[in-house]
Amino acid sequence: MSKRDFLRVVDFSRDEILKVIERAAQLKEKTRRGEMECPLIGKTLAMIFQKSSTRTRVSFEVAMYQMGGISLFLSPQDTQIGRGEPVKDTARVLSRYVDAVMIRTYEQEEVEEFARYSSVPVINGLTDLHHPCQILGDLLTAKEFGKDLFSMKVAFVGDGNNVANSWVEAAFRLGFELSLACPEGYDPHPQVLSLVEGKENVRITRDPREAVTGADVIYTDVWTSMGQEGEADERLRVFQGFTVDDDLVSLAREDAIVMHCLPAHRGEEITESVIEGERSVVFDQAENRLHIQKAILEFLIKGID
Ligand code: CP
Ligand code: NVA
Repeated sequence: MSKRDFLRVVDFSRDEILKVIERAAQLKEKTRRGEMECPLIGKTLAMIFQKSSTRTRVSFEVAMYQMGGISLFLSPQDTQIGRGEPVKDTARVLSRYVDAVMIRTYEQEEVEEFARYSSVPVINGLTDLHHPCQILGDLLTAKEFGKDLFSMKVAFVGDGNNVANSWVEAAFRLGFELSLACPEGYDPHPQVLSLVEGKENVRITRDPREAVTGADVIYTDVWTSMGQEGEADERLRVFQGFTVDDDLVSLAREDAIVMHCLPAHRGEEITESVIEGERSVVFDQAENRLHIQKAILEFLIKGID
């Protein structure tokens, strides 16, 4: 069987997404009971980070350790990657040592090139275009809070960034309703939107109130993503009116949950009161990165029936 990669949500079929989520829930429950499963004994994950990370790095490292394997954190400054060794060479070299590679970088093309030259599975740990592991973990969280993954209504408020793009792909695969409220010029990427052209379950509006009305899940993310720091002042101005505050949350369903992939900028995309409020599930979301990484790693390295 040829190796599989996870570079964007649609790299997994609908059934594979559901199986990975189900397996993550099972592994979570087993961990809670103290019954550790170690399907990755002797396996190694290399992790290349061209951008900062707390959750992705720690969850992948702990996931590998708890499943019996190890991980290697490769910082560009301390490897030949930072001195310009070609991606295609690094991919072929690492493939001879490790069983999977996770990459966080800027260009989606870089992870795609890496995957083309790698003979082991490659996982996108965030690029400018996608954040697929995040959204799989978020789907697990939504399910845990009683949301139906096929019929829930998700309102994404803010920047049509990597996280939003991955939400669009998840809606394409599962068919739930997704309303994105983005300022003009900040919609999800056209290449991703072309997937859902003509589909009624994904809509874009300029009005956060319209998106959030009747929602089961309210989701937001930073207005300035990593790599866009030079645009921060302009973005702060453009995104006025797109803050998830108590007033906006009151338009959603009574049992709606509020999600944020973190890190959050309180007072910008979300208020202190909402992120610390009773609807917020942001720390369950962060925890679920660990459980979903385990299921993703196991699927890619060992396969599932
Ligand atoms: N949500 C997320 O990916 O967080 P990190 O940047 O800390 O990995
Ligand atoms: N959109 C954010 C997500 C961080 C996890 C960024 O790319 O910086």
